[in-house]
Amino acid sequence: MKPIRKAVFPVAGLGTRFLPATKAMPKEMLPIVDRPLIQYAVEEALAAGITELIFITGRNKRAIEDHFDRAPELESDLESKGKIALLNVVRDVLPSHVNCIYTRQSQPLGLGHAVLCAAPIVGNEPFAVLLADDLLDADTPVTRQLVDAAHQHNGSVLATQTIDIQNSFKYGMVAGTAVDARNTRVDRIVEKPAPEDSPSDMAVVGRYVLEPEIFDILRRTQAGVAQEIQLTDAISALLAQRPVFAHRYVGDRYDCGSKEGFFKATVAFGRKYHNLRTD
Ligand code: UTP
Repeated sequence: MKPIRKAVFPVAGLGTRFLPATKAMPKEMLPIVDRPLIQYAVEEALAAGITELIFITGRNKRAIEDHFDRAPELESDLESKGKIALLNVVRDVLPSHVNCIYTRQSQPLGLGHAVLCAAPIVGNEPFAVLLADDLLDADTPVTRQLVDAAHQHNGSVLATQTIDIQNSFKYGMVAGTAVDARNTRVDRIVEKPAPEDSPSDMAVVGRYVLEPEIFDILRRTQAGVAQEIQLTDAISALLAQRPVFAHRYVGDRYDCGSKEGFFKATVAFGRKYHNLRTD
């Protein structure tokens, strides 16, 4: 498999579960302690060797572009006041060898449609997809785990975790044949099935390594669950062409697209990385 150099960050969703906070600000800019969700996802991608960051943006997403751009006035102000530690924090948001590319999804037609918007930029090579609202805390960053599995097994790889099957209606659910301790060759994937229709208790979370064949399939994929063009439906069609693996990642996940997960992440990261206390 070719090296995986590009990562796609779909950030064009409406973030309705966080209204009114997300009325004028993207959900991905909500901070966990001191950095926005999107920065955690970008740092995870960089730790996997990614050098091209492709953001699929929509309305109200300017703040993301500004966040990853230089801020000359802020930097010179901090410099003149001798606030060197803060200056470095601002400058270190992105290493200089990394490129950011922004493209618009004109309407939020679904995650599959958002990924398809990256096709002309990704071209004919495998790529990662990271959903910033899934915050993953792991010693080996989860995108790195997926990239390693993709190279080892020569196929697409989906991050998965075991869930309470009663929650299957919130996830893409997969089933297949185990090939080693952490990887399963997928033979079925279904978007948000009812518990009684779920093929297993293995749920896909917001990290993927995909082969470029997915783009042609996405072009033909019709709207599915919730009238959205679903990435899951395209992956289901990909199974007939190319191997797809479910990788049971090592790490902790916080669903920061929900208020509860966001709150838990704030407390956990505050305690673990910032020595903050709640009492
Ligand atoms: P969600 O299902 O969490 O939707 O999208 P959302 O709009 O962001 O949030 P809620 O449910 O209204 O609160 C999962 C990911 O896919 C992106 C979102 O930005 C998020 O990262 N997405 C979704 C798009 O980029 N475009 C879409 O059309 C849909």
